[in-house]
Amino acid sequence: MSENNFIIETKDLWKSYRKGEDKIEVLKGIDFAMERGGRALILGPSGSGKTTFLNILGTIDLPDKGEIYINSTKIDTLSDNSLSKLRNEQIGFVFQFYNLIPEMTALENCMVPLLIKGLSVRIAREKAEYYLEKVGLGERMNYLPKDLSGGEEQRVAIARAMVTEPVLILADEPTGNLDRENEDRVMDTFISLQEEKGGSLLVVSHNQRLKERFKIVYYLDNGKLKRE
Ligand SMILES: Nc1ncnc2c1ncn2[C@@H]1O[C@H](COP(=O)(O)OP(=O)(O)OP(=O)(O)O)[C@@H](O)[C@H]1O
Ligand SMILES: [Mg+2]
Repeated sequence: MSENNFIIETKDLWKSYRKGEDKIEVLKGIDFAMERGGRALILGPSGSGKTTFLNILGTIDLPDKGEIYINSTKIDTLSDNSLSKLRNEQIGFVFQFYNLIPEMTALENCMVPLLIKGLSVRIAREKAEYYLEKVGLGERMNYLPKDLSGGEEQRVAIARAMVTEPVLILADEPTGNLDRENEDRVMDTFISLQEEKGGSLLVVSHNQRLKERFKIVYYLDNGKLKRE
């Protein structure tokens, strides 16, 4: 445990993938740190490694090399159990392609992380309803993902990431499928949550427009992260 004021810290992070004979180096030594309660945006073109980097930070993928600290815990030393606990209790993840459970309604999808945390069904439902309303889905809570539009599914995924009020939200292209009005609404919700609850928010996107809302902006290109 190293105590500092960072919610995330990485040191010399490397990741490559193999495609047949070829090896593609996606991340080539990423040093990154984000303060507790901070908000940062990472921009980069398609294929630059944004999802790869975020998945590693979210502990759902492993780097080839490098150190990762989440909330001052060095995560490569944790057991699978402790890692799941950290992921469930501290991190809210918005996946690029939502990853909603198809058999569950929007409301049930948002209740899952709360039930895993041990909250009662009544409280879980209240909280899930509250966040679904915040993202503008008050009227669609009982729909299955297949009966929602892409943008609506994306908003369910965002509500699901926020329901536990995690200390860290990692959001992968969270406005990718939204029109301007919903992009504003979703980003306002993220930011007000972050400001009210003192959480931290890291967004990766190719959408340059999001820059307006972030004082801290990085570019990921050619395996390297550069501060704007
Ligand atoms: N599981 C995998 N196996 C092989 N190559 C992969 C794998 N995942 C990603 N890649 C490759 O790694 C590179 C980075 O992919 P990644 O998905 O991280 O990019 P991205 O910046 O999120 O792109 P986008 O903006 O299109 O979502 C790409 O060249 C991709 O083809
Ligand atoms: Mg991606």
